[in-house]
Amino acid sequence: MRILLVGGGGREHAIGEALVKSGSEVYVVSKHKNPGLTGLARDYGLAKETDVGRVLELALKWGVDMAFIGPEAPLEKGIVNVLEENGIPTVGPSKEAARLETDKAFARAFMERHKIPGRKVFRVFNDPSEMRSWIDDFGKPVVVKPLGLTGGKGVKVVGYQLRDNEEAKAYAEELIRRDEKVLIEERTDGVEFTFQVFSDGERVIPMPLAQDYPHAYEDDRGPITGGMGSYSCSNGLLPFVTREDYERALETLKATVEAMRKEGTPYKGILYGQFMLSKEGPVIIEYNARFGDPEAMNVLPLLKTPLTEIAEGIADGNLKRAEFENKATVVKYLAPRGYPTNPLRGVKVEVDEGAVRDAGARLYYASMDENFTMLGSRALAVVGIAGTLEEAERIASAGINGVRGEVFYRADVGTKESVEKRIRIMRDFGKEFEPGLC
Ligand code: GLY
Repeated sequence: MRILLVGGGGREHAIGEALVKSGSEVYVVSKHKNPGLTGLARDYGLAKETDVGRVLELALKWGVDMAFIGPEAPLEKGIVNVLEENGIPTVGPSKEAARLETDKAFARAFMERHKIPGRKVFRVFNDPSEMRSWIDDFGKPVVVKPLGLTGGKGVKVVGYQLRDNEEAKAYAEELIRRDEKVLIEERTDGVEFTFQVFSDGERVIPMPLAQDYPHAYEDDRGPITGGMGSYSCSNGLLPFVTREDYERALETLKATVEAMRKEGTPYKGILYGQFMLSKEGPVIIEYNARFGDPEAMNVLPLLKTPLTEIAEGIADGNLKRAEFENKATVVKYLAPRGYPTNPLRGVKVEVDEGAVRDAGARLYYASMDENFTMLGSRALAVVGIAGTLEEAERIASAGINGVRGEVFYRADVGTKESVEKRIRIMRDFGKEFEPGLC
C-alpha cells in the first residue's frame, strides 16, 4: 500500500515508522525534510502542509492508495475533502468534522446541543461590555480563549497566566479587538490527561492514556509549549485516573463521535480528548482532531495491530481492532535553547543514533532539517519503553546522552516526583483511589 503522509514533526516520524513497519510505502510532504522520515520515505515533497493543491498534485504523481494527515492546520484547509474528492481515501476528519479542534465555539456549542458529558459553562462574545458584565455575574475564575487554532498559545487562565478576572476581561477585550470574538469558559481545576481514540465515523477504539507536560521548564513552570514530553502506563490508565474515570472519559468521546455522525459530519480519524480530571470527574478542556505531539510517540510504538490495517479501517469505515502492548513509555523532547519564546535556529545538533539505541531508547526527529540543523521548534524526542514507568524514564534519560547541542529538555518528565505531585493534587481534592500500576 502506498500512503501519503502529510507533516514532518516527531508525531509524523512515529506515524511513518508504524506505517512502514506494517508493510506500507510512505511518501511524505512537509515543509522541511525530517531526517527520520527521509530515511523511511520512498519519496519526499517539500511543500507547506496547508498548500492543499500542491499536496494533491504530489499525491496524484505518486499514485498513492491512501493518505494520512498528521497536523491540524491542513485539516482546517479541507485537505481531507480535497483528497477524497480525488479518489484518495484519507485518515483524518473532513474540514467540517475537524471544527471540533479548529473552531472552539463550534465545539462548545456542539457539546451543549448534544448534552455530551464532561462539558463546561461557556459563552462567546463579540461585545466587550456584555463580556465584562457576564464575567462579573459569573463570579468564578475564567479561561479566555481565542476561537481558532493558536498552536497552544493564546489560551489564558485566571490563576496562571492571568492574575484575576479583571485581567481576564482586559485580555478578552484585546482578543475581541483583534479577532472580533472570544470564548470565555469556567475554569476547571484538576489534573490534565490525554485520551486518544481511533474512529471510522461510527466505531471508537481507545488508545492508552497519556500525560503531557506542556510547560517549558521543570516543575511545570514557564511558558506553554506544544508539549515537552509525556508518559503512559503499562495498564493504559494513569496513576491518578481510576477505571471509572476512564470509562466516563471514553463515554464522552463515544458520545462525540455518535453526535457528529447524527449531524451528518462523521468523524473519521484520530480524536484526541484533552481532559481535566476534576473533583466531579473528567471534563473536556479541548478536542484535537489528530494525534497529540508528543503523545503519538507514547502510543504508536506500542501498537500490536498493524497501523496500515487500522488506517484502512478508518478510511473505509470498517475499523475492527487496535491492540497495544502493556508497557510504560516516557517521551522527552529536546528543544533549542530559548524555545518557545526566542528559540535558537540554524544551529546543528550532533546525534549519535547508535548511542541512543544502545541505551535501549528510540529516537524521533522533529523540527530539524536533513543536516540536523534546528529550525526553531521542538527538535527531536527520545523515548523509553519498559515494563515500568521508572525503567522507561531511566531509558529515555540514558538515551539523551547520545544527543549533543544547544538544546534543553525537562528531566522531570515521567519521574516519580512529578507523578506523585499530580496524585497529590487529586488527593487534596478529597478524591479517594488506589494509585494504579505504572
Ligand atoms: N500535546 C498537545 C497537542 O498535541 O496538542
